Amino acid sequence: MAPVIILFVITLTTVISSDLCPASCRCEDEHLRASCVFASLDVVPYQLNPEIHHLDLSNNRIASLQHEVGLYNNLVSLDLSSNIIHTLGYENFQWLENLITLNVSNNAVRNITKKSLKGLISLRNLDLSNNNITDLEEQSFHSTNKLEYLNLSGNSLMSLPEGLLNNLPSIIILDLSRNSLLEMPSSNLLLTPTLINLNLANNLIETIPPDSLSTLSSLKHLNLANNLIKSIADNAFQRLKILTYLNLEENRLSEIPTPALSNLNVLSILILSKNRLVALESLAFRKLLELQYLDLRGCRIRTIDGRAFTDNVNLETIYLDGNRELEELPPKVLYGSYQNLRTVSLRHCSLSTLQPTQFPLDHLTTFRVGGNPLVCNCSVQWLWNVIHTDGHRNVSHLNVDSSDILCADEEFYSKPLIALSEGALKCRMSSLYLSLSAVGCLVATGTILGLIAYVTRGKRQKRPSYSPPNRPELLVYVEPNNDTAKNQPRLIPRKEEDLYDIPHGKTNGIAEGFYEAPYCNRNNSIEGVYAVADVTDLRDAPPEELGLYRMHSPKPSRTRRLPVSNGDYNYDYEYRPSQKPHVVFV
Ligand SMILES: *[C@@H]1O[C@H](CO)[C@@H](O)[C@H](O)[C@H]1NC(C)=O
Ligand SMILES: *[C@@H]1O[C@H](CO)[C@@H](O)[C@H](O)[C@H]1NC(C)=O
Ligand SMILES: *[C@@H]1O[C@H](CO)[C@@H](O)[C@H](O)[C@H]1NC(C)=O
Ligand SMILES: *[C@@H]1O[C@H](CO)[C@@H](O)[C@H](O)[C@H]1NC(C)=O
Ligand SMILES: *[C@@H]1O[C@H](CO)[C@@H](O)[C@H](O)[C@H]1NC(C)=O
Repeated sequence: MAPVIILFVITLTTVISSDLCPASCRCEDEHLRASCVFASLDVVPYQLNPEIHHLDLSNNRIASLQHEVGLYNNLVSLDLSSNIIHTLGYENFQWLENLITLNVSNNAVRNITKKSLKGLISLRNLDLSNNNITDLEEQSFHSTNKLEYLNLSGNSLMSLPEGLLNNLPSIIILDLSRNSLLEMPSSNLLLTPTLINLNLANNLIETIPPDSLSTLSSLKHLNLANNLIKSIADNAFQRLKILTYLNLEENRLSEIPTPALSNLNVLSILILSKNRLVALESLAFRKLLELQYLDLRGCRIRTIDGRAFTDNVNLETIYLDGNRELEELPPKVLYGSYQNLRTVSLRHCSLSTLQPTQFPLDHLTTFRVGGNPLVCNCSVQWLWNVIHTDGHRNVSHLNVDSSDILCADEEFYSKPLIALSEGALKCRMSSLYLSLSAVGCLVATGTILGLIAYVTRGKRQKRPSYSPPNRPELLVYVEPNNDTAKNQPRLIPRKEEDLYDIPHGKTNGIAEGFYEAPYCNRNNSIEGVYAVADVTDLRDAPPEELGLYRMHSPKPSRTRRLPVSNGDYNYDYEYRPSQKPHVVFV
């Protein structure tokens, strides 16, 4: 009896006045829009203009749906989000044939039956996120075959019934994140070849079997973060030919799934942070030529092969922060063909030293290495230079987290590198000497070191010291005159006996081990603008052909390490990015 009366009243109301607007609502008749947000409604109001196209009932106390919804059968969008709806009832939407967007997110809906959404033949967007759905009937989406967007995120689904997505030929966005799925919904994904965006994050999936994604040839965006994934079948991603984004953060991968990833030829963003990775092998990211963003934060990476990123020539951003067991980087790990690299972040690893040949410093805009236990010796003089010239150069050039770069060696423990004086970064012996010195000699050399330090302290105030890399080197000289032909850099192989500086006397025979800033003045025709070229890869190339760089400043200086012009430090070089070998400037 009651429904009949209500219906009668409703009909009466609509006949008498088609645009009575309840006090708590805002009605815009000209736009056919009504909004009853935060209106403390317990039911769907029935006195609104029945012609309306848009109805917003979000943030009320509506607990269940009745047939009132059907009064507004011209609705195009209906927002029921943030109510306390626990059931959508049966066939309540059957007259809403024009409805395109239905939002039931943030309610307490428990199940969707085959009758719940019956009649929504135009529906394209369905948001059921943040409910309490445990049960979906296989036919739940049977009549909604125009669906393009389906959000089931934040429910309690453990699995999907077999043919659930059977009738969704236009679906492009499917969000199943934050459920309790125990495995890939493989059989359903086979039915949705149109998907572009698939989110399965925050579930309990353990493995990606071979056939689980095998029809998704339109997929661009795949999120598998926060699952329990231990293994990915080698051919699992084989058909994902246009995937550009893959998120595997916080899973249980113990190695890079190289074979699977190598199918993703246009992948540009790869997130593997918080996995249990131990090593990055050679070509770990094989064939990922388009990769631009690689996130490897918070893994357990101990070793990185020098060729780990060889194929990733378009890399722009790499994060390796928080790999606490990472103690060293191979020499040219990110150097070489990484012309697009702009951001390198290595914070909070266990790196005790860094070499300029590991990164393409001239291209970078962000370089973050704070929180590493750095040994502040002459090997990081270059970093000191970078930090100190940073302020003088165009600020936009290179952004370094300099205040977090602290020394961890005994001498400067917990002092910021930036606070050390220019001459403080000492290296007293060559590595050759070190390698020759036996343990028994240490005591004796202690005395000598003290002596050396004393002897050279004065000089170091002005001249930073430099430690030679254990690689072939070339010195680069520029002649001081204005004859353009002669003003080219000349590369001169460094002879074993060549020192960069006037030896400080052969104190007890170890003066040979001194390497200080090369104020070379070999003979009177060569002035001391200098650089040391690392030519590891060019062992056999004739030095004349290297043309490593051209000097920029015409004013070589013998009194300062870096020529001073207009009161500013000025890097007096420029080398052509196309030319690989790195030049170590001292
Ligand atoms: C549904 O409503 C929620 C809460 O108001 C909102 O965040 C969400 O974007 C809406 N969904 C769609 C598909 O518009
Ligand atoms: C699905 O809904 C959740 C929660 O409302 C939201 O955070 C998420 O962005 C939505 N997914 C998509 C693809 O819009
Ligand atoms: C979800 O449903 C279960 C029973 O199906 C119930 O115990 C739980 O309280 C519900 N949670 C919410 C937030 O409604
Ligand atoms: C300095 O930075 C500004 C932007 O901050 C840029 O427009 C300008 O070209 C830069 N100058 C040089 C010499 O790099
Ligand atoms: C500086 O310290 C690092 C880290 O201990 C070491 O590897 C490097 O050889 C040292 N440099 C020199 C020139 O001794």
